[in-house]
Order: sequence, then structure tokens, then C-alpha cells
Amino acid sequence: TAAMASRALNLFTICRRQFGTTGSLASRVAVLGASGGIGQPLSLLLKQSPLVSQLALYDIQAEVSGFDGPASLSDCLKGSRVVVIPAGVPRKPGMTRDDLFNTNAGIVADLITAVAKTCPKAMICIVTNPVNSTVPIAAEILKKHNAYDPRRLFGVTTLDIVRSNAFVAEAKGLDVSKVSVPVIGGHSGVTIIPVISQAVPSVSFKAQDRETLTTRIQNAGTEVVNAKAGAGSATLSMAFAAEKFVDSVLQAIDGKRGVIECAFVESTVTEAPYFSTPLLLGRDGVEENLGLGNLIEFEAKLLQAAMPELQQNIAKGVKFVKERY
Ligand code: NAD
Ligand code: LMR
Repeated sequence: TAAMASRALNLFTICRRQFGTTGSLASRVAVLGASGGIGQPLSLLLKQSPLVSQLALYDIQAEVSGFDGPASLSDCLKGSRVVVIPAGVPRKPGMTRDDLFNTNAGIVADLITAVAKTCPKAMICIVTNPVNSTVPIAAEILKKHNAYDPRRLFGVTTLDIVRSNAFVAEAKGLDVSKVSVPVIGGHSGVTIIPVISQAVPSVSFKAQDRETLTTRIQNAGTEVVNAKAGAGSATLSMAFAAEKFVDSVLQAIDGKRGVIECAFVESTVTEAPYFSTPLLLGRDGVEENLGLGNLIEFEAKLLQAAMPELQQNIAKGVKFVKERY
């Protein structure tokens, strides 16, 4: 139950691991919004990671006793190499992710202010929606504190990849753990652009099936929101996806070569100032943006269709910080 999970989290609030012969660097990871639907299972999954030496869990609710409320936030963040932010409200049926802006923009801005002051070198992984706006908000806040390094700020879009991998594997009878479909663009409706033509292993679909699959991937979050009928949005799959992304970041900062993940970052690949593409990760975050690759005509049209909403979402985030902070 949620109560049991909360009690377990209390026990895990600061978990120290001994590093013996692995040679790996000990990483403190902070989760901001750790009591929530995503935060609880994400924290439990991170607790299993041999790359995490300390797990600092923060929320404004009382369940997590270690770091509870704004007075304890900087203690939570101190020394963190990675900060994951799933804090904020989720959608209810009938809402778009942009409808969350009014509540979540301020939450992210305040949390990032604390990150800028306390652990400005941390890798920041933002889960809170609307990701297309919360990432530019975070960047603008970091700039105000002279703490912005575009290589270290990520909007977590991994759930779109997890879903694409699952749906393609299901359609083609493949082992999902061996399927990899890049998803580019942003993280809302038409801004989610699955690049099925670049799937590994290569798969072929009739035009109509490709279109149906693409629409399903773009609407998968809404499908979950409707199925939960007012009880929130995807939590367990998101926890799985965020743990996968954070694990890749940790492996890369530990020196592993060739780690590639898609994420929503500052970008010059298209005319949008933030855009998700496959990224080569290294010790300092984004080492190389691997770009769009070859898109088939259908995907190039998806890209065109995504631009207006994506640009609007980004501009809204930038304007919010310029006007309020
Ligand atoms: P939830 O309501 O279950 O949990 C959110 C938690 O955030 C709560 O425990 C709440 O107390 C906490 N919180 C609120 N304000 C805070 C603050 N200022 N500081 C610290 N904690 C704070 O919601 P959830 O289902 O966990 O979803 C969280 C967010 O993640 C939502 O915005 C949702 O839209 C988003 N989300 C993103 C993706 C993605 O793919 N990027 C996927 C799923 C959900
Ligand atoms: C998702 O894709 O599941 C999340 O962005 C949550 C949502 O609101 O759909």
C-alpha cells in the first residue's frame, strides 16, 4: 500500500552504500517530490542501484521524514551529483499537460533556485510536466544564478521511448529488451515524434499501421490519465523510465563510454531552442548531440507539425521566469 511504501521510504531516506572494489565513484542522488506516485517507486528503484551511494528524498508532505519542507531542501541537495524532480501535480482526464503549467511552473522554479544555490554542478533531470516548459523555466532560473550549464539540464522523455519500444516489440513479436526506438521533439501530444524508421532492429510497417502506432505513442500518456479516471497519470512506468535515464547519467559520469539517451535539452538541431534527440552522455553531461539522423517523409511531416506547439511551450516557460523572477 502507499502507507507501507511511505514507511519503507522513511527507512531509506538516506541510504549509504559501501564502495569496495568496484572503483566506481559514489554518487549522492536527490529526488525532489519523493512521496508522490512517481517519487516512491522511483526512489525504491534507485535504492537498488550500485551506482547510488546516498539517496536523499525530499517532499513537502510529511511522509518522508528526512527532508520535509522548504527549510530542509538545501540540506537534501547538498553534495548531490544528480537531482531528479518529479514534484508537482499530475493531469486529470480532459487536461493537457500545458494545463499543469500554472501550478508546476512555480514549483520547478523554486526547486531549481535551491539547486542553483546548493549544488549548481548537479545533473538535473526534470520529470515534472509540462516538460516542454519546465526545462526552459529551469534554464532561465539557472542563468539568473550564473549556474546554467546546458550540458547538465535534461527533460526526461524516456517514457516515450519505453512506450515506443514496448509497442513496436508487441507489434513485431520482438523481445522488448532488445528494441530501441528513438523519440525526438518534446513531451506532449504532437511534439512527441517517434522515429520508427530508425528503430533497432530495423522494422517495417505499412503506412497506415505506422500512423496508428505513432498516434498511439503520442497519446499514451492521455490513455493512462483516462484509465486512471482522476487518480493521476502514469507512475510505475515513469519510475521505471526515470530510473533507466538516471542510471545512464550515473554510468556516464562514472566514466562509461558510449552511453546514449534521448532527452529534452537546449539544442541547435532545429529552430526550437530546446529539443529532444539522441545524446551521447559523458562525465559532464551532454558530450555530443547526435541530431535527427535521416527522417522518412512521414517523420519529417511530424517534425513540422510539432514546431508551433513546441515553440509556444518553450516561449511560455521563458516568459514566466522573465516576468516573475
Ligand atoms: P503526485 O501528485 O503523485 O506526486 C507529486 C509529489 O510532488 C507529491 O508527493 C507532492 O507532495 C510533491 N510536491 C509538490 N510540490 C512540491 C515541492 N514544492 N517540493 C517537493 N515536492 C513537492 O504526482 P506524480 O504522479 O508523481 O507526477 C508528478 C509529476 O510528474 C506531474 O507533473 C506529472 O505530470 C509528471 N509526469 C511526467 C512524466 C514524463 O514523462 N516526464 C510522466 C509521468 C508524470
Ligand atoms: C505521460 O506521458 O504519461 C506523462 O507525461 C503524464 C501525462 O500527463 O500524460
